[in-house]
Amino acid sequence: NNDSCLPIGWSSSPSRSRLTAIMKFVRFIMKNAALASVPKHIEHFSKFSPSPLSMKQFLDFGSINACEKTSFAFLRQELPVRLSNIMKEINLLPDKLLSTPSVQMVHSWYIQSLMEILEFLDKNPDDHKVLGEFVDALITIRNRHNDVVTTMAQGIIEYKEAFPQDWVTNQNIQYFLDRFYTSRISIRMLINQHTLIFDGTTNPVHPSTIGSIDPQCQVGDVVQDAFHSAKMLCDQYYLHSPDLLLQEMNNKKTKHPVSMVYVPSHLYHMLFELFKNAMRATIETHESSNNLPPIKVLVSLGGEDMSIKVSDRGGGVPFRRIENLFSYMYSTAPAPQIGDHSRTPLAGFGYGLPISRLYARYFQGDLQLFSMEGHGTDAVIFLKALSTDSIERLPVYNKTAVKNYKVSQEADDWCIPSKEPLDLSTYKVAK
Ligand SMILES: Nc1ncnc2c1ncn2[C@@H]1O[C@H](COP(=O)(O)OP(=O)(O)OP(=O)(O)O)[C@@H](O)[C@H]1O
Ligand SMILES: *[C@@H]1O[C@H](CO)[C@@H](O)[C@H](O)[C@H]1NC(C)=O
Ligand SMILES: [Mg+2]
Repeated sequence: NNDSCLPIGWSSSPSRSRLTAIMKFVRFIMKNAALASVPKHIEHFSKFSPSPLSMKQFLDFGSINACEKTSFAFLRQELPVRLSNIMKEINLLPDKLLSTPSVQMVHSWYIQSLMEILEFLDKNPDDHKVLGEFVDALITIRNRHNDVVTTMAQGIIEYKEAFPQDWVTNQNIQYFLDRFYTSRISIRMLINQHTLIFDGTTNPVHPSTIGSIDPQCQVGDVVQDAFHSAKMLCDQYYLHSPDLLLQEMNNKKTKHPVSMVYVPSHLYHMLFELFKNAMRATIETHESSNNLPPIKVLVSLGGEDMSIKVSDRGGGVPFRRIENLFSYMYSTAPAPQIGDHSRTPLAGFGYGLPISRLYARYFQGDLQLFSMEGHGTDAVIFLKALSTDSIERLPVYNKTAVKNYKVSQEADDWCIPSKEPLDLSTYKVAK
């Protein structure tokens, strides 16, 4: 290298700097060429439907004869399919939302990640270096997408502040975000499985786990863990917290704790959110009292369902409001301000319930709220007891999906209740 002989501060020869300029220009052109080809790739891959995996298939990828090559070959096709399917839907968002800086940023992350995976399409799966680079690329992508939910929530807030809300847009955004976040959960699941299984180590704490799946997930233990974390937050903020009463019903082997094949981190996420809500409601309705009613949890394993009920006596929610608690548009305001300590850490964006419901639905389960205003709330998580029933529930982009973005508000076919008393005098029959 000639440059090494030059005194510090001296620029290299003119011809050399011109060369760098040309190189820069070439890189610029190439990057733009790659960018320009992105819509073509999205078009191609969005024509495929995503392939939902069952819990059993996830476990097979991680079994003794797990083959990194097979997983690589599957993912370099399946990840572009899942990314492209959801990117087609991003483009269907209302222009005013799509053009917010936050949504633009999220969109650019998706484009970047798609381009990075496409690089592997013509690489050789037998090359160990390629497999290693693929794991690194997946980790980069996972980190890039860490803040998607909060950034997207920010975009919704920007949109809400700038434009009046209407029913149709609210419906579309709810429909989109449910699908978008489900897609994200599923993509992260695929990435986590591959990177955890093929990084050549075993989980030191839970050696039996396969990637993020525990074939013998002890539901009661996860309940205890999630409760403990929520309790610490609650104690910090309110200086006290309700107790936990846990009961397990196992139809198969009575007195045995309930266990199932599941992703403990997903279960933990849902329970942690439910416990934060239950604790806040309990404390805020019993401010004057010294004994807080406990939070009761019932875990029940049946032939088809594994259900968990979290019951609090926090005063409940009016029936009319229940549906709104799962809405992204109703709950994002007021946005938690950084450094704002007036708000409880037990409540944030208002995404706790909707996202938890997506985790439950992702493996064909559900999350429902049964509340009695004046008394308290039962939140129930329903999961599939059998791993053969636990199959990914994934959005697919096709004509049906496009049609759902075009819903219009249909005219109502039920009477509008009148608040004015009916003037019966007009019905008087003339004598
Ligand atoms: N067990 C409950 N009892 C009474 N109200 C509840 C209960 N669970 C939820 N809610 C109401 O539903 C709202 C939405 O809950 P959600 O968990 O989705 O968001 P959040 O708690 O406001 O914020 P975060 O995103 O931090 O969870 C809460 O703000 C609260 O008003
Ligand atoms: C869209 O995909 C779903 C799931 O594959 C399918 O049930 C539905 O019929 C498809 N719609 C159209 C219009 O092809
Ligand atoms: Mg919450």
